[in-house]
Amino acid sequence: MKFFIKNYGCQMNLYDSEIMTDILSTAGYIMCDNVDEADILLFNTCSIREKADEKLFSDLGRAKSIKFKKQDLGKECLIIVCGCVAQAKASTIFERVPYVDAVLGPQEIGNIAIVVNSLLEQRKNNEYPHILMRDLNTRNKFATLKSTQITKRGFSEFLTIQEGCNNFCTYCVVPYTRGREFSRDAKDIINEAKRMISLGVKEITLLGQNVNSYNGEGTDGKTWSLDRLLYAMAEIDGLVRLKYITSNPKDITENIAKAHRDIDILVPFLHLPIQSGSDFILKKMNRKYSTDKYLYSIDLLRQYRADMAFSSDFIVGFPEESDKDFEDTLKIADKVRFAQAYSFKYSPREGTMAAKMNNQVPEKIKSERLEILQNILNNHQNEFNRNTIGKTVSVLFTKYGKFKNQLVGRSEYSQAVSICDSSIKIGDIAHVKITDIKSHSLVGIIEKK
Ligand code: 5AD
Ligand code: SF4
Repeated sequence: MKFFIKNYGCQMNLYDSEIMTDILSTAGYIMCDNVDEADILLFNTCSIREKADEKLFSDLGRAKSIKFKKQDLGKECLIIVCGCVAQAKASTIFERVPYVDAVLGPQEIGNIAIVVNSLLEQRKNNEYPHILMRDLNTRNKFATLKSTQITKRGFSEFLTIQEGCNNFCTYCVVPYTRGREFSRDAKDIINEAKRMISLGVKEITLLGQNVNSYNGEGTDGKTWSLDRLLYAMAEIDGLVRLKYITSNPKDITENIAKAHRDIDILVPFLHLPIQSGSDFILKKMNRKYSTDKYLYSIDLLRQYRADMAFSSDFIVGFPEESDKDFEDTLKIADKVRFAQAYSFKYSPREGTMAAKMNNQVPEKIKSERLEILQNILNNHQNEFNRNTIGKTVSVLFTKYGKFKNQLVGRSEYSQAVSICDSSIKIGDIAHVKITDIKSHSLVGIIEKK
């Protein structure tokens, strides 16, 4: 039987979709890219902002017609909703879309093969149960991986090392959908990385909701922090690039800055979400850092690694955000000049503190502020990219482009770089001299392989 996975949301969800692919493939199911051909439709959902969960319900409408068409032909078609919307809104899903067969929260996806097997088995007896699994404490998601074959991988892959969150930023749904912080053992992480590398992976991004609060058991039996794990990862043969995401600015330490100095495969680029440039709003968001601490963290990293650049996330229109607060956000953006940034209108999430706060900002003001901020952030990104012209950057090529001999890859700063050179193939890492910028990507020539 064939399965199709539609993924929404963050990198951690992408990794979870890969886990489910591995588990189902190990159990004998075949992955397919065409939703109409699939017997099992999986939706791995996200609820971080409003639009993310609306999308699920519109996609489920399409899934319904596929299911009913198959049933008319006497065939089976399972619909399974996983991930963060599954965790947060299980009962709404079953109420609104009763033809969904199973709902699995993000910590339950290790059970995906058991659920599919059991649904198919019960159908043989004309039983059509709804299965609901949303225990946040289960850790068998990672335990299952040890006996799972790793299927198809690209050259750049994610590897979850830590999950969940204890921070409770007042706008954020994650502590409710992914549960409390949990760190995997270093031994399992290193083994998984080695298995990935044996399949051709060159670049690994270590993932965690708060990756800097990693505190898993080390290979020496002691508790390791993130910097210790980074040093251990750097010793793995065949790994050519190492990244980690997402860091909370409050957790940037001198040891992490030293790791950036010492480990040459660690990229000089860090995603450090600031969210707001107003200390008043940061407090209301419960971010536990001030703008001064944010700027200090950036300085600290640059002291140890001068070529560090940063990307960030911003939220505009958080409850009570005044014109002055918003101006402070523009000021800090101007000061840091991010190489890349994502910005969002604040979206009230059910069950979070901020959704209940007074003085919610009108939609129109949120939209105006977003447009102003995005223009500035775009200018900074263009400026950063323009400054790369004439410089030589290291690029990992991951796909072929539209033109003859064209390859596209990413620099250490996550910039898209394209070249035309028949001596390079995908999976190669090479030094490229940047000669030009075209819309959102850089163009260059190979300097040395
Ligand atoms: N509204 C708007 N943006 C949000 N983010 C998280 N929760 C919300 C919300 N309720 C943004 C933050 C975070 C990124 C992943 O999504 O900027 O860093
Ligand atoms: Fe979306 Fe957050 Fe869940 Fe990722 S962890 S899928 S961003 S809600």
